[in-house]
Amino acid sequence: MPEKKAVVTGGAGFIGSHVSEALQREGYHVTVIDNLSSGSESNVPHGAELVVCDVRSEQARELIAGGGFDVVDHHAAQMDVRVSVADPMLDADINLMGLLNLLEAAREGDVKKFIFASSGGVVYGESDDLPHNETAPKLPVSPYGVSKLGSEYYLAMYSMLYGIKVVSLRYANVYGPRQSPHGEAGVVAIFGSRIKKGENLTVFGDGEQTRDYVFVKDVARANAAATRFDAECTSIDKVAFNIGTGTETSVVQLANAMLEASGITVAIENAPARAGELLRSSVDNARAKKLLDWEPSVELVGGLRETYEWIAGVAG
Ligand SMILES: NC(=O)c1ccc[n+]([C@@H]2O[C@H](COP(=O)([O-])OP(=O)(O)OC[C@H]3O[C@@H](n4cnc5c(N)ncnc54)[C@H](O)[C@@H]3O)[C@@H](O)[C@H]2O)c1
Repeated sequence: MPEKKAVVTGGAGFIGSHVSEALQREGYHVTVIDNLSSGSESNVPHGAELVVCDVRSEQARELIAGGGFDVVDHHAAQMDVRVSVADPMLDADINLMGLLNLLEAAREGDVKKFIFASSGGVVYGESDDLPHNETAPKLPVSPYGVSKLGSEYYLAMYSMLYGIKVVSLRYANVYGPRQSPHGEAGVVAIFGSRIKKGENLTVFGDGEQTRDYVFVKDVARANAAATRFDAECTSIDKVAFNIGTGTETSVVQLANAMLEASGITVAIENAPARAGELLRSSVDNARAKKLLDWEPSVELVGGLRETYEWIAGVAG
């Protein structure tokens, strides 16, 4: 049988590199498209081919249009909320124009499945009715959130117009080896690199803000499961899956769990609350359990231990 072929955009980054490995295990030959703006060649798994280019480029479009790919799994993005607020046009250029370039290429190249890394942390409106399920009201409060939700609508539209199968995976807060401590979503990586350097951990406000932390290898398995999901797209929520644990962990709890996982003690300090920070967040994964046969398998402290071992080994 001819080998199945997948493109993973952002495959030199944190999540995309684990996704590339998971798709290889599914029997795909993986081609990574990445401009290396935050990713690194060393993250690309052995056996995968790296093409260094921008998702907005003609090169990316020609590659996908002419490559005979079965799956495009899209992880390259501008993913810093603060950058999106400071420069919403840059965010839209990378996240929306980049997506459209890939979708047009997928249509030209008769790609069968398009998987998209969305975000359960930014597409839903803030409410106390947690965890959010997929049909919860959407109300992004940043340009980044709008570009993620807008992307889901573009996917649905391409599915309805051209028959391409689409899946949006709405990730909770992803953590694990290879996460950069720079940028918005990297609190675990930030805590880990500070612990390694013997520096205190800073918690903003009272530290009772909650997030739903999901281990990157579980997220990668969800992408593998998504390659096998083939529902008709009748709404964005019908082809969307929350990928998280459904458990809220406060920043203080996370800091303590990270200290436990590392076996090192540093102090936890408080700093003034940051304006505009979401107070609580978690996503209901029942739909993914039922329809993707997926559930998270890594407990927080175990995942943090594996993450800290990686940070202690490589991060500066
Ligand atoms: N980390 C999280 O907790 C989280 C949560 C929800 C959603 N996501 C989404 O998951 C995806 C991957 O995030 P990550 O945490 O692995 O980030 P990352 O920065 O490690 O990975 C992004 C990769 O995309 C590449 N890239 C960026 N812009 C590009 C462009 N214009 N053309 C080509 N390549 C480009 C970068 O070099 C990098 O390798 C993003 O779409 C992000 O929005 C992440």
